[in-house]
Amino acid sequence: MRSHYVGLVDESLLGQEVTLCGWVNRRRDHGGVIFVDLRDREGLLQVVFDPDREDVFATAETVRNEHILRIKGRVRERPEGTVNENLISGKVEVLGLELEILSASATPPFQLDDDVNEDTRLKYRYVDLRRPEMLERMRKRSQITNFIRRYMEDNGFLEIETPLLTKATPEGARDYLVPSRVHAGEFYALPQSPQLFKQLLMMSGMDKYYQIARCFRDEDLRADRQPEFTQLDIEMSFVKQESIINMMEDMLIKLFKKVLNVDLPSPFPRMTYAEAMEKYGSDKPELRIPLQLVDVGDLMSGVEFKVFSGPANNPKGRVAALRIPQGGSLTRKEIDNYTKYVSRYGAKGLAYIKVNDLSKGVDGLQSPIVKFIADVAMDIIERTGAEDGDIIFFGADTANIVNDALGALRVKIGHDLDMVEGDWAPLWVVDFPMFEWDDKANRWHALHHPFTAPKSNDIQALKDNPETALSDAYDIVLNGTELGGGSIRIHNADMQTAALELLGISNEEAQDKFGFLLDAMKYGCPPLGGIALGLDRLVMLMTGAESIRDVMAFPKTQTASCPLTDAPSEVDFKQLNELHIRVKKPEIG
Ligand code: AMO
Ligand code: AMP
Repeated sequence: MRSHYVGLVDESLLGQEVTLCGWVNRRRDHGGVIFVDLRDREGLLQVVFDPDREDVFATAETVRNEHILRIKGRVRERPEGTVNENLISGKVEVLGLELEILSASATPPFQLDDDVNEDTRLKYRYVDLRRPEMLERMRKRSQITNFIRRYMEDNGFLEIETPLLTKATPEGARDYLVPSRVHAGEFYALPQSPQLFKQLLMMSGMDKYYQIARCFRDEDLRADRQPEFTQLDIEMSFVKQESIINMMEDMLIKLFKKVLNVDLPSPFPRMTYAEAMEKYGSDKPELRIPLQLVDVGDLMSGVEFKVFSGPANNPKGRVAALRIPQGGSLTRKEIDNYTKYVSRYGAKGLAYIKVNDLSKGVDGLQSPIVKFIADVAMDIIERTGAEDGDIIFFGADTANIVNDALGALRVKIGHDLDMVEGDWAPLWVVDFPMFEWDDKANRWHALHHPFTAPKSNDIQALKDNPETALSDAYDIVLNGTELGGGSIRIHNADMQTAALELLGISNEEAQDKFGFLLDAMKYGCPPLGGIALGLDRLVMLMTGAESIRDVMAFPKTQTASCPLTDAPSEVDFKQLNELHIRVKKPEIG
């Protein structure tokens, strides 16, 4: 139906006749001449209709935005002064000789360059996706996936699909369940990841596996979390952590070079989990922001101010300082706003010291709390390296709250005060604790997942000191976003049993939930490990999108619904009956 893409018509076609199909981006009438900006996937092109050809001109007059046209025309130079350097087709235009309206469009729900709310964009996603930046993101996503597939194939990985109708895989979220019609009262779970299957594939001798895998997690949604998302999922046999890290790093470096022409640092820096928490209050530090937390608990343990001395003397507490160079100019109102900001993370306040004039000692400090900590104030200045004109913020609470609050504050202030340095800061975070104590449930829980191997192979040592055990797990972080995570797995049934016991998972429960994996281990399991990258997050970062919703063709809203299809929705009584399900709606009120 067409000879060329609209957006690719350029001066190499001057004088030639072309046949084009595309959408009307805009129609302009100019003193008897009609201009139509035609649009397709590849870009825009100016088409001109003049009144000499009466019937064509008459049709052109009926053309409206978003109508789909087929045009035959001749490529000619644009008149001087009307060249558009931003378009491939910017030096030329097409004189319309024939015109056919292939499909008329009703008035679109919004103009493509309108600023519309996300619900409307998602409801009319097919229109929203016509916007050039959305097209560009989809194209980048395709390039990225394509590069990854080729890389994996070139490196000896087999692409293997794993089931979506399956049994729960523990990754820490709630499952999406699918009722069985044939087995009354029984349910499949959609996979939170292909974790268990990929381990089985290694036991089968597949050696190296990958999959662009859809995963499902029923959890609180955020800008970088969707209920349904895609992982680049990888598993390898006979490997140690180093091989997986090196391979992933090589892939990412080549991917960034190819798609963005960006040179990532090589090798990526590495940091232990302990250091990340201490200096950045986060296991996914944004390294482009040059601010760090500093512990001051030892200095505060003797002060009268209970807000500080309490947590300083509590083994689970933390008192930390965050120095903002030249932050002394922050106003009272700005500080109040930051105080409100950290309260979201559970902080009960945000003490601060403004460093006005160090030559005056304590008298040169301005702060509501300095009188309570006068004895140690100068030690704090020295510890943080503060200088005249700086401000120091303090967090004092349980270590978790201080880390969350000051960790988020450093990123927020870093952005607010334009402190972001450089474009790309990848980082490996290693040496995660094996377990985390869950106060509410009063039991250990796995920081990664229950199949992650401890760094030490000593089963007794793990049982004796679960709180200090480190795991052979690693996360890849990019610009403060957790891009992926993986681990070396337990490949020994006794170690697996010990780990499950520590997690308070009884033999019976383990058999019921993943007995098949434990059984499989009895028939031989190679040493194995792997990783999964969040593909949506990778594309989000590589396209500069604000949310993974902007790099998914048909994402869900923040409340896990789809305004386009109206999913989820109620189903027929008959269908429910077949599935042996009776709905019990929550009472309203
Ligand atoms: P993990 O749970 O860390 O590891 O997930 C790997 C990566 O998947 C992405 N991700 C998400 N992206 C969008 N929406 C979500 N709801 C979401 N949840 C996770 C993140 C994350 O880093 N089986 C292990 C991997 C392994 O051990 O090999 C796993 O799934 O980018
Ligand atoms: P207050 O004694 O509650 O008036 O607090 C005095 C100062 O300490 C105020 O600037 C509060 O914002 C701050 N503050 C209170 N609780 C904390 C806390 N847990 N961590 C850090 N600063 C706090």
